Amino acid sequence: MDNRSQWGSRLGFLLAAMGSAIGLGNIWRFPATAYENGGGAFFLPYLFALLTAGIPLLIMEYTIGHKYRSSAPRSFKRISKGMEWIGWWQVIISFVISTYYPIIIAWAVMYAYFSFGQSWGDDATSFFVGDFLQVADAGTFGAIVPSVLFPLLGLWAVVFIILGLGVKKGIEVANKIFIPLLAIIFIIIVIRAVTLPGAVEGLNAFFAPDWSQIKDGSVWVAAYGQIFFSLSIAFAIMITYSSYLPKKSDITNNAFITGLANSSFELLAGIGVFAALGFMASQTDQAVADVVQGGVGLAFMVFPEIISEMPASGLFGFLFFASLVLAGLSSMISISETYIAGIQEKFNVSRRVSVTIGGGLAAIVSLFYANQGGLNLLDTVDYFINNYGVALAGLFEVVAIAWFARSLKDLQNYANDVSDIRLGSWWRLCLGIITPVVLGFMMLQNLLGDLK
Ligand code: PFF
Ligand code: NA
Repeated sequence: MDNRSQWGSRLGFLLAAMGSAIGLGNIWRFPATAYENGGGAFFLPYLFALLTAGIPLLIMEYTIGHKYRSSAPRSFKRISKGMEWIGWWQVIISFVISTYYPIIIAWAVMYAYFSFGQSWGDDATSFFVGDFLQVADAGTFGAIVPSVLFPLLGLWAVVFIILGLGVKKGIEVANKIFIPLLAIIFIIIVIRAVTLPGAVEGLNAFFAPDWSQIKDGSVWVAAYGQIFFSLSIAFAIMITYSSYLPKKSDITNNAFITGLANSSFELLAGIGVFAALGFMASQTDQAVADVVQGGVGLAFMVFPEIISEMPASGLFGFLFFASLVLAGLSSMISISETYIAGIQEKFNVSRRVSVTIGGGLAAIVSLFYANQGGLNLLDTVDYFINNYGVALAGLFEVVAIAWFARSLKDLQNYANDVSDIRLGSWWRLCLGIITPVVLGFMMLQNLLGDLK
């Protein structure tokens, strides 16, 4: 009776999970976050968050997916009838993210192409905001910007095809191509970056530890926030992906591999980005501190300038933006799969129908961000999703599982039956106490900050 889709191999699952985890969060979020929160000293709270929340939660989500063999809503429902809504909450967050994530990938596609002729000229910032996004009257909605519309539609076509082909023939095959390719490109970029003049100053700025910041609660919150976002936890993603695992699969080991691969990629990105920033600072006679940025600004304003200063800039610009596209696309696929699977199960429809309905709806909504002024919308939505949506989803999830359904012990035994690494009571302590306390504190801090 069990004709649920399955991954073709363990490696297939691992690459898909890594594909989801490794994304823009690694490339443009981690380096700036680490730098602003103590530099080298940030690694202490970061590792602590990885070991007390990141990997334990990943194990929990893998166990839930493997045991209940369902999308997030139905998995939570099977644990306890009253918990289905937690799954839908996570699916809705993923849906919202999937409406704006492809916008950024679409920009990266265009910039990969622009790299060859350095179309941004010598003022990358005004090119990005003015010529490219046309946010002249910020906040107002005008026409859809063609330079965003066409790559966006192309990306949706790719996403539709991959999701339509299914778990094994679509998602697994795509990640088996994307992730090794991404690793190769990234290693080339990092080697190039660390051999540029000025790279050492950049790396010094990145790794210099500011231990005084460790006393600050907000640094710990930043570490947990980075880990949650970066491991795609509480987005319904990892539950969905692990629901396609074959019966005999090592859960705990897989979670450790995913977590460590993601963090290694993050560290590598930090090195590459700061080496490049050091180069830029030395070329423009600035201090590294004055050129540091994260997010959209780093990728589309600072990096184009770095690229223009580099030898063989066309090639390296192309590789940099191609890495954003590959990292982003594999994450995008995982986000969309949450509602594709959710719709499919809830309404008992075929994958084709759920891809058409779910993906179609997300694609239509995404057009709003392709408007003049879409950048502001994207900023606002992203802010609320990251600061409230995800933290709340994680909090609901752990409290419901640990305290409402009281199923941690059950899940622990289940995971131990199929895994080499044995979970002890430390695992329940992390999920039942440490993680809820940290997430609660995180919510409070965000709220107080916003109310001020
Ligand atoms: N984990 C991805 C990253 O670190 O970039 C980001 C991500 C993937 C965020 C999927 C949200 C999401 F739904
Ligand atoms: Na990540």
